[in-house]
Amino acid sequence: MPFDFWAGWVAVLTLSSVLGLGWFVFSIYFGSGQEAEDSGTVWDGNLREGAHPAPMWWFWLILATLVFSVIYLMLYPGLGSFAGAMRWTQAGDVQGSVAAWESRFSAKRAEIAAAPLDALQADAKLMAAAERIYARNCAACHGTEATGQANLFPNLKDDEWQWGGHPADIETTIRAGRNAVMVGWGGILGDAGVRDVADYVRQLPHGATSDHPGMAQYNQFCVACHGIDGSGQTLLGAPSLADDVHLYGGDAAAVEHSISAGRAGVMPPFGNRLDDMQIRLLVAWLTRS
Ligand code: HEC
Ligand code: HEC
Repeated sequence: MPFDFWAGWVAVLTLSSVLGLGWFVFSIYFGSGQEAEDSGTVWDGNLREGAHPAPMWWFWLILATLVFSVIYLMLYPGLGSFAGAMRWTQAGDVQGSVAAWESRFSAKRAEIAAAPLDALQADAKLMAAAERIYARNCAACHGTEATGQANLFPNLKDDEWQWGGHPADIETTIRAGRNAVMVGWGGILGDAGVRDVADYVRQLPHGATSDHPGMAQYNQFCVACHGIDGSGQTLLGAPSLADDVHLYGGDAAAVEHSISAGRAGVMPPFGNRLDDMQIRLLVAWLTRS
């Protein structure tokens, strides 16, 4: 804006206060009527009523602060939209310290981000750092021990990986997040159907028999994602139903609820909250044996 009214207004106000204050101080010290005077009245025997000018060192002090203000306003932002001769800004200050931090640590951080996992896992200090990153970002959902919680947040310490347990899969999970979608089947299966299929699913870890009443519907509706034998499909995040690990609980009521109402677990993405080094450390920490 060529003419910034409020910036101009602030500048005028600031300058006139500085000038006004200067004039005021000068007039007090060098104006008329500043000589010491003695009214001649004496109180309590020895208290003489009169007026003395303020001591001169006050004047020099005030003058020095005025000069300081003027120099400050010339160097730093303070006078309306005038940026000051030093061009100092808060943002610039922050950028400066970020740049200093980068130049000090970025090489080391890049080295960690590219290091082989077993080298990181062998370094107790780095694993302690990883644990702190975990505690700050992940523990609220996955539990302080990373063993999952509340039948909602998966255990990250078992060998069962819904989205794949290869380090690259885990890295993708952390960076991009995951959205699991299983629609509810209650409407299609009906209550009895849900019970039968749930019972069949609960038999899967123990080798379900082919005469089970839930098998036909399982094979019709569920195999596309969970597989004939219930082994799951990591690309879709469809968990294995053939083991004893159940994210949402393995009792009849929980399995029936999963089937009839569906489930939609969301793992939030951390790709723009954590940097490469932090993600690498987490992957190393989670895949430690
Ligand atoms: C479109 C793919 C898809 C189909 C079809 C599907 N599921 Fe799923 N199922 C999933 C996904 C993905 C999850 C994980 C949901 C989550 O993590 O929030 C899941 C979760 C479950 C769970 C919970 C597992 C646990 O660990 O707690 C059960 C039980 C289940 N499915 C059973 C079935 C049954 C029975 C059928 C057929 C009626 C079926 N699913 C059909 C994708 C599917
Ligand atoms: C807001 C809660 C929340 C936070 C915070 C969170 N997660 Fe998750 N995470 C989930 C949920 C829910 C799932 C399961 C998604 C599903 O149903 O498939 C999940 C799934 C995962 C999986 C996939 C597990 C598997 O079996 O494939 C990994 C790995 C994971 N999280 C790691 C992390 C890490 C590392 C952090 C911290 C940087 C983290 N999560 C922070 C909620 C969270």
